[in-house]
Amino acid sequence: MRGGGLRPATAVGRVGRRTRVTEPFPRVAGELCCGGLTLRELADRFGTPLYVYNGPAIDERYLAFERAFASVDRLVAYSVKANANLAVLRRLAALGSGADIVSRGELHRALLAGIEPRKIVFAGVGKTEAEMRAALEAGIYSFNVESAGELDALSRVAAALGVEACFALRVNPDIVSPTPHAYTRTGHLETKFGIPVGETLELYRWARGVVGLRAAGIDVHIGSQIADPEPYARAVSRVLELVGELRGSGIELEYVDMGGGFAIRYGGGEAMDLVSLAQAVAPRVAGTGLKLVVEPGRYLVGEAGMLITRVLYVKRTDRKTFVVTDAGMSELLRPSHYGGYHEIELVMEQRDRSVETVDVVGPVCETGDFLALDRPLPVPQPGELLAVRQAGAYGFTMTMNYNGRLRPAEVLVEDARACVVRRRETLDDLVRGEVDLWV
Ligand code: LLP
Repeated sequence: MRGGGLRPATAVGRVGRRTRVTEPFPRVAGELCCGGLTLRELADRFGTPLYVYNGPAIDERYLAFERAFASVDRLVAYSVKANANLAVLRRLAALGSGADIVSRGELHRALLAGIEPRKIVFAGVGKTEAEMRAALEAGIYSFNVESAGELDALSRVAAALGVEACFALRVNPDIVSPTPHAYTRTGHLETKFGIPVGETLELYRWARGVVGLRAAGIDVHIGSQIADPEPYARAVSRVLELVGELRGSGIELEYVDMGGGFAIRYGGGEAMDLVSLAQAVAPRVAGTGLKLVVEPGRYLVGEAGMLITRVLYVKRTDRKTFVVTDAGMSELLRPSHYGGYHEIELVMEQRDRSVETVDVVGPVCETGDFLALDRPLPVPQPGELLAVRQAGAYGFTMTMNYNGRLRPAEVLVEDARACVVRRRETLDDLVRGEVDLWV
């Protein structure tokens, strides 16, 4: 590709206090780059809005996880919902990753990408019997079960297939986790997730006599974007107490799943320090003889992705300056849905520009359609490119066709080469499946 002569990323950034990683999108001679290519070239070649992923940066994060938890028997099950692109899943599969899935669609993706079925765990409060059947037929490792009704359904489906379904009960430890938004807290009793501690032992005991079920683990997931290891230590301790009580009843498990939710740095915030996390959790698990399952999503892919968008207009009123871009909530929902903060930079540095407080807004007909509000930014000109950082997780997977928007292309970069890993949607894609069929 043209202009591939820039040096691959060498800048080193910091994630947490002790985990050093390569900066996936360094600025070289005033231009933002990825893997030796400039983002400007990528935007010119593939159009905008555009998702760009740095492949090796994803590998690096996965390997950091493996290293941090090397002292315990473990399964790193990547949480597919964060970024489900097959190219991303294939990379992780090649490194030995398992998968945390929540639907038949994610099962399909994980299997297509070559993730070993025996490394797949299936979560979610609303699994259908058809989904359970598909997962059992694929031979997945285990179901993280969230209610008595679901456990009953699983036993029926497994018995009908003549197999045993391995399961863990997802415990709700009633911990209000320190996440930036209420929608990403899942560990307290006001949420739909998990089974109250007081009900779990009885359910495991019930399952003992039931055809089609085998208790294999115990599971907890307290939320997402958590930088403090302490609530994890508390949650794991709580479920390990239950493991002790189960042993007393003759029920032996093989794994404890601590879920995911490990924070990355969005602008100023703190990231999870993996070494501290492992120090807080691994010793508790080490003595139990149980395998530790961890389900990182955002941590592996979030900072390895950027959304590139082109400025369409700069609109000034008495009260505000709006930078109108060709991406908005339909391409990156996090700012609108969770008040999520993503760093935004000009792709080409403009030293002469005055910094103003602006709203970066998209083309969607909603007041809630924005990428940033009241953000100090060197004011760009129409036609210039902006890069939205930390967009590798819950970016593309949460895109939508609202307002007739076409989903953007995704490009993966490695060794100064770019690969389109999902082409931009077309008008045909937009209406695919819409037929007039009176029945
Ligand atoms: N395991 C379970 C059972 C989960 O529900 C989730 C995320 C994960 C693992 C992975 O969490 P992570 O490591 O990626 O934080 N859309 C929101 C996040 C929703 C997370 C849902 N569950 C956002 O953009 O912040």
